Amino acid sequence: MGCICKRDCLIALIVLNAWLWQLVVGSSSSNRDSLDSFLYDYAFKKIKKLRSGEVYSVPPPAIFSGMELAVVRVRTSSLWRQGLTHGPLTIPPKTLPWPFTKRVDVVYQNLANWSSHYYNVPNHTFVAPVIGFLSYDSNGNEAVEIRSKGGEPLLLDFRTYGGGGGTKRCVRFDRNGTLEVSSTTREGWCVVRGRGHFSVVVPNEGRRHWEVWMGVVLGILGVFLVVLCVLMWKRKKMRGMEEEAERSEELETVWIGRSRMPFASGIRTQPVLENSYRP
Ligand SMILES: *[C@@H]1O[C@H](CO)[C@@H](O)[C@H](O)[C@H]1NC(C)=O
Ligand SMILES: *[C@@H]1O[C@H](CO)[C@@H](O)[C@H](O)[C@H]1NC(C)=O
Ligand SMILES: *[C@@H]1O[C@H](CO)[C@@H](O)[C@H](O)[C@H]1NC(C)=O
Repeated sequence: MGCICKRDCLIALIVLNAWLWQLVVGSSSSNRDSLDSFLYDYAFKKIKKLRSGEVYSVPPPAIFSGMELAVVRVRTSSLWRQGLTHGPLTIPPKTLPWPFTKRVDVVYQNLANWSSHYYNVPNHTFVAPVIGFLSYDSNGNEAVEIRSKGGEPLLLDFRTYGGGGGTKRCVRFDRNGTLEVSSTTREGWCVVRGRGHFSVVVPNEGRRHWEVWMGVVLGILGVFLVVLCVLMWKRKKMRGMEEEAERSEELETVWIGRSRMPFASGIRTQPVLENSYRP
């Protein structure tokens, strides 16, 4: 028990607990929103001169290594004429931003191994990374959606992510934390409606359930240990203070100049020594 109550051990316990908590409840939507605005600001700060129609791949900051980030500024006329493709994202021609703006900034994110750090679908497992597809007007207003007017949908190509066994489903995470699940993918494609984050999931068979309960039990145990350690510390400190008080009850010795002198502890005013400050 004594070992568990060492400071480093305790910090590790607290970190483990936070991690378990995240496993159980998942990341909050405010975390995701701040990630989005952070990446937006980061990308636009990195690009010195943004030219319309060019896709800029921006290496993510070191703390988010593994992610992919790209931005492109498109004129609405160009979007209407030729659409836009980047990586797995296909925006067909005859699409328009809504509400209407003259040009739109598209931010593409591939969260890769960070996907389940920020997103989760209860009782499901990701079989593809979470792809962020966000659009902004030129003032950085993010309430812009790219909508198809010609009947062809906007698509994300998830065909390369096979495996997983069960029935694959497309998921879409909306800004306010809502989750949309569409029944099927068209041979690995997901239809993109609006803006948000998209991925493909397969249902779990009971495993997740077990994991969650395990997490809850370990989490409670962790909290219990932390509380126990704090109580033990307090008791130890109290006992130490009591002993010290007993020891110093009769006489305290203080250094005055170079000589040690007994000093009654009852006297609270300490002598001020002028020459002790001189070099
Ligand atoms: C993702 O992978 C990169 C290396 O490719 C690594 O540096 C990073 O820590 C990983 N992130 C997570 C959340 O595992
Ligand atoms: C979230 O936004 C969608 C539309 O984007 C809306 O239909 C839904 O009601 C909102 N949910 C909440 C909880 O605000
Ligand atoms: C997840 O599955 C368990 C049964 O395994 C069920 O009780 C629970 O309601 C499910 N959760 C969601 C959000 O569907």
